[in-house]
Amino acid sequence: MKKLLVTGGAGFIGGNFVYYMLENYPETKLVCLDALTYAGNLETLKGAFGNPNFKFVKGDITDRKFIYELFEKENFDTVVNFAAESHVDRSIEEPEVFLKTNILGTQVLLDACNKYSVPRFHQVSTDEVYGDLPLDRPDLMFTEDTPIHTSSPYSASKASADLLVLAYHRTFGTPVTVSRCSNNYGPYQFPEKLIPLMIANATHGKALPVYGEGLNVRDWLYVEDHCRAIAMILDNGRIGEVYNIGGHNERANIQVVKTIIKALGKSEDLITYVKDRPGHDRRYAIDPKKISNELGWQPLTLFDEGIEKTIRWYVENSGWWENILNGSYRSYTEEMFT
Ligand code: NAD
Ligand code: DAU
Repeated sequence: MKKLLVTGGAGFIGGNFVYYMLENYPETKLVCLDALTYAGNLETLKGAFGNPNFKFVKGDITDRKFIYELFEKENFDTVVNFAAESHVDRSIEEPEVFLKTNILGTQVLLDACNKYSVPRFHQVSTDEVYGDLPLDRPDLMFTEDTPIHTSSPYSASKASADLLVLAYHRTFGTPVTVSRCSNNYGPYQFPEKLIPLMIANATHGKALPVYGEGLNVRDWLYVEDHCRAIAMILDNGRIGEVYNIGGHNERANIQVVKTIIKALGKSEDLITYVKDRPGHDRRYAIDPKKISNELGWQPLTLFDEGIEKTIRWYVENSGWWENILNGSYRSYTEEMFT
């Protein structure tokens, strides 16, 4: 049986990836490592505990001693690094932890892969490393050759990590792959991000804060399509390569907010235009030709279907996000470790 380390698996995409792998790769054992920062939530993994192929370990990817001991003990075949500080607005308020986790944490994992000869390291990166595109040039999209051109401390830290990953490949021969995905949405996303925040606020009849004029465009991908793309890269991706992941689902923020309002039967009067995010990227758009031509990946869920499924999930699982809003998800996490 193969043994895979999933870092950041108590977060949004990592958690969805754990479920995807347990269901679709029954011959793989998963060790999920997470520091359980504010964004890590063991309630997300409730359905995985008890599965004989799943094990959770609390720990920090920047803790070299701990990471080396774990690698020594577990003998991983593959490491997939989701662990990161992921929220752009927080990186503007407090950049340092982004540099520490996203850059130095990645370096510790790369060193551990070298030291223990792990056959594959996959870095989960983002389209934000390419900066942004103008709103009036719908013909332009990010390819893997688009120059790195970051806007926020978050994207600068993710781009630094990507450069480090590719440099380790060239210098030390570390067997790496990198994927750069567009905005994800779906179950278990922390309610600080646009879609779950709007669903939570609209449900409670609270104001919906739209930055600037709401015209910035994001290229949305249903999280399961991202998980499948990563699994396909692990199976057949070429070592040393970068793969863009995205499904041509561009929407202006205000369109997304209005879709949520309509689905929940609320009033557009809740929309409140607020001060813009400093350095706010205008538009992201991924050209996914490389991953579709080389690996046969295609998104299976288009936005209209995915957003409906997602809203339904948040309505039916309101306890999950209400526990975050009232803080009780932290006590659940603490109980698991006392
Ligand atoms: P998230 O914030 O929901 O989850 C991050 C997880 O990492 C949390 O569980 C947190 O506890 C854990 N973590 C943070 N610091 C850690 C540390 N030092 N050691 C161990 N664990 C730590 O993030 P997400 O949205 O699931 O994003 C996962 C990855 O995907 C990130 O690397 C992000 O850059 C990338 N990404 C996200 C998106 C998106 O739309 N959300 C799109 C493309 C790429
Ligand atoms: O593109 C991939 C990136 O997508 C990931 O790398 C990041 O980890 C992830 O957080 C996401 O970044 P964004 O900044 O695009 O996501 P966020 O949900 O914060 O914002 C989406 C858009 O909505 C953005 O244009 C800002 C806007 N926005 C966001 C919030 C939270 C609002 O207008 N109001 C809000 O309250």
